[in-house]
Amino acid sequence: MSLFDVKGPLKDAAFGATVSLKSGRGAQALDAAMAAEPLSLPKILSDNGGLLLVQGLNEINDDPALLVRLSRVFGPEVEDYRHTLTNLSSVHTQVPEILLVSNMVPVSKMPPPRPEPPIAADGKLPVQYPHRVGWHTDQSYRRPPPDISLFYAATPVASDQGQTLFANGTLAYEALPSALRAKVEKLDGLHAQPGTGRSRRAAVAGETPRAFKPHERSQRQPVVRTHPVTGKRSLYICEGGQMDWFDGPFVGMEKGPHGDGARLLDELMSHMTQRRFVYAHEWQQGDMLIWDNRCLVHAATWYESGEQRMMWRTTVHGNPGAAYAGEAKSWIPVAAE
Ligand SMILES: [Fe+2]
Repeated sequence: MSLFDVKGPLKDAAFGATVSLKSGRGAQALDAAMAAEPLSLPKILSDNGGLLLVQGLNEINDDPALLVRLSRVFGPEVEDYRHTLTNLSSVHTQVPEILLVSNMVPVSKMPPPRPEPPIAADGKLPVQYPHRVGWHTDQSYRRPPPDISLFYAATPVASDQGQTLFANGTLAYEALPSALRAKVEKLDGLHAQPGTGRSRRAAVAGETPRAFKPHERSQRQPVVRTHPVTGKRSLYICEGGQMDWFDGPFVGMEKGPHGDGARLLDELMSHMTQRRFVYAHEWQQGDMLIWDNRCLVHAATWYESGEQRMMWRTTVHGNPGAAYAGEAKSWIPVAAE
């Protein structure tokens, strides 16, 4: 008998679920239930398209290590951000497994740009690329890439702003026209770390990218990934700043921001982010989302720069699937560098 209630799909979406405790509420009670039933939430996650919402976990604000404990249920390794190509100003000072996503000092990450126009033709929040940009799956610029992210709203912004959008790569893959599916089946994308000068904007501007050390290099990833738990196939691509627009975006296709590779990327991303494949989350304090990076992409939305936003993320690693079997971590410098 499960300790959890599951209600899905998420609002106005075709996937995802809200999870609550049958008895009790809050982060401590959730921690106890997850310790008593460690297999339940990972199964509920994979049974519901890779996205879960848990609400009312405000106790985590005063006990950030609790977020790490909850994360450990989802895989063998919760990342320590001191060793993941991350600027230390974005790492929680007491709990280095927590990445700070914030516009506050010292992180000072500016809000994403507002789409133009700010409302889509159907009167709703714009979601489809390229009207909406910033779609990515976490840390795809590393091999093996991570599995699961947990994202906790310590201080979210006002409602109707600062949403997180999710697009389901499994549903998008299954709906691909057969000619397009055949084209991407064996294709690899080349993923770059944002901020390293390989972005589409830098390529369009004709900038010369800096040389990478071996552990910083852009990484190949299959455009179609097979999920190691469900066996389902999903599109696995990013856009903008998280593909390499100098040597990619795809391996073996015309390179750069104006070539055949760019046209294919635009077509795939536009397909994947149709509203029928998307969930938009409006944050409340104490919300936690758990998502599977192996089958979903996500994007942050604009908020007023006067707002103060502080979100905490952990990342779970260790089950990327057979395509990555036996690989060393690409982001760890080797002694000879
Ligand atoms: Fe992200």
